[in-house]
Amino acid sequence: MGKYRILKTEGRAKRAEFETVHGTIQTPVFMNVGTAAAIKGAVATEDLERIGTQVELSNTYHLHVRPGDEVVKKLGGLHKFMVWDKPILTDSGGFQVFSLATLRKIKEEGVYFNSHVDGRKIFMGPEESMQIQSNLASTIAMAFDECPSSVADRTYVQNSVDRTTRWLARCKMKMAELNQREDTINRSQMLFGINQGAIYPDIRICHAKQISEMELDGYAVGGLAVGETHEEMYYILEETVPFLPQDKPTYLMGVGTPANILEGVERGVDFFDCVYPSRNGRHGHVYTNHGRLNLLNARYELDDRPIEDGCGCPACRRYSRAYIRHLLKAKEMLGMRLCVLHNLYFYNTMMAEIRAALDEGRFASYKKAKLEGLISESG
Ligand code: GUN
Ligand code: ZN
Repeated sequence: MGKYRILKTEGRAKRAEFETVHGTIQTPVFMNVGTAAAIKGAVATEDLERIGTQVELSNTYHLHVRPGDEVVKKLGGLHKFMVWDKPILTDSGGFQVFSLATLRKIKEEGVYFNSHVDGRKIFMGPEESMQIQSNLASTIAMAFDECPSSVADRTYVQNSVDRTTRWLARCKMKMAELNQREDTINRSQMLFGINQGAIYPDIRICHAKQISEMELDGYAVGGLAVGETHEEMYYILEETVPFLPQDKPTYLMGVGTPANILEGVERGVDFFDCVYPSRNGRHGHVYTNHGRLNLLNARYELDDRPIEDGCGCPACRRYSRAYIRHLLKAKEMLGMRLCVLHNLYFYNTMMAEIRAALDEGRFASYKKAKLEGLISESG
């Protein structure tokens, strides 16, 4: 399981396939974010099939708090619960605890915090995170990590990264034990490790070397897109990715804009995820090959064209900018839904274009043309 096959390379960019128990993932891929087992914007399973979603991403922390991972396990696991039979990646909870929970205390054993829903006291450490993700029975589980602030000082970052390495060893042990158990739903659950180190290249590289020796199913670069500049992020990727195993998938967590993704692919990244397309869609901001549009703008009041001419998404096939603008203004749910579907389709289609360009050895020229379009206009 977890067989990763590189089909083509161009510089550091990789076109690959990743085999899982829930089907083969074609990379580079953009995972569609459904934090609480739903893509925000009233997007259903049928929609994901129509917009070309390959992998859905949910969160350990959210599902543990509500409805509870044991409830999901009793109902047969996340795939059955949300009626999605393709791959699901679950984030470990580490990052969400740091961004959402209140009154957190980090200790060697894990993190004590209060739930953002009802204030209830919760403890989560590597073993708890693995147990929850095993109950959810996702295809890929993420290691429990700490994501230090991008402005944290060097000493703090070094201590935090060392703890994250110790946590990773515990995650691996616990996952192996859970995958042996008779009552585990997905006994082929895979584990990805997460590289940290803020914007200190030497800490990143040292950590990348350490975790590379742990023989995990894949490797993520975490702790980016958390306040540093785009140039710093690209620099960290250039420095770090070469020290992660080249025969395993590389995942850049929480990134990003279409331009960030193109730059990530160029630097060897296979997996991406980000809330931008769904979050922006809910606010009426839509992506096109000529820049981003704000459909609430008065200029679209009488615009009877689709969001993007020639787009094959469920919104553009039938509806006009003017109609969607009206729906958004009237706070009709359909308005948000159509914008989210268009945006996810835009991202998923861009990834398919990237894969085709890599297949044909023309990624560099594709990237240049795409970037020129993306920044050409907006409003
Ligand atoms: N999502 C975005 N960044 C991170 C990170 O650093 N760690 C985890 N677990 N999830 C993330
Ligand atoms: Zn569209």
